[in-house]
Amino acid sequence: MDVTGKRALILGGTSGIGLATSKKLAELGAEVIAISRDVGRAGDIPEGITLRQCDTLDREALARLFAEYAPFEILVSAATGGTRARGQLLEMDFEGYKASFAKLWGYVNVLQLGVPHVTQDGTIVLVSGTPARKANPGQVAISSVGGAVEALVRTVATEITPRRLNVVAPGTIDTPMSSLEGKEREEFYRNQTAKNLIPRAGTAEEVAQGILFVIQNDFVTGTTIDVDGGRLLS
Ligand SMILES: NC(=O)c1ccc[n+]([C@@H]2O[C@H](COP(=O)([O-])OP(=O)(O)OC[C@H]3O[C@@H](n4cnc5c(N)ncnc54)[C@H](OP(=O)(O)O)[C@@H]3O)[C@@H](O)[C@H]2O)c1
Repeated sequence: MDVTGKRALILGGTSGIGLATSKKLAELGAEVIAISRDVGRAGDIPEGITLRQCDTLDREALARLFAEYAPFEILVSAATGGTRARGQLLEMDFEGYKASFAKLWGYVNVLQLGVPHVTQDGTIVLVSGTPARKANPGQVAISSVGGAVEALVRTVATEITPRRLNVVAPGTIDTPMSSLEGKEREEFYRNQTAKNLIPRAGTAEEVAQGILFVIQNDFVTGTTIDVDGGRLLS
């Protein structure tokens, strides 16, 4: 797909991976609508990006927003959805674990309510994460949510063809998702990535490149693209 002149709705488009994707699409001449609960997070945004407030968990508001911009060719969701529980299963707080699935339900809402407005030649991208297929102890929540997202994509891609649906799985990426600062932040990313084939945190722009690849390549659907510094092989 040549994205020039196409309309792209980017849920979670105001920070980190989603914002980097919004900027790349706008640079390439797409009309971008970047959406999140608090659009003030986006800071200064370039021309070609419109900010809109919406929560992926609010089905009525989401349906109204999609109808307002329909039809559109590109639909991306990188929205985290809500909080993420950490810890091992035997000590896991059940309510916290369940709440981590807000990301999955947000994605389900985006697909159910958004896909009917995506053009037949259109393309949809979701974002999972490496723990879906390689997790450390204590990552059971993000691992099982990520696994569910990847299974969702593999199934729904068969249901919405000829529209294309893919998922991009980032490894450890330096984004505002981590609130750590200074030396503590550097140390965190160094420790997290020390055993990776490429031992550093990735950037939001590197993940956005993966998202752009599956948007632009008309022969790719139903698959997962890993942008993880070789974490899966570490
Ligand atoms: N960074 C990493 O290391 C990493 C690794 C693996 C996977 N991922 C995945 O990559 C995706 C993007 O993460 P990121 O690192 O770019 O995080 P981020 O910088 O925190 O950005 C998350 C975005 O999602 C929006 N958002 C969250 N909940 C939302 C909701 N319910 N409705 C609408 N928008 C919502 C946020 O804006 P508001 O708060 O304003 O709503 C923000 O724009 C996430 O799915 C994350 O799980 C990240």
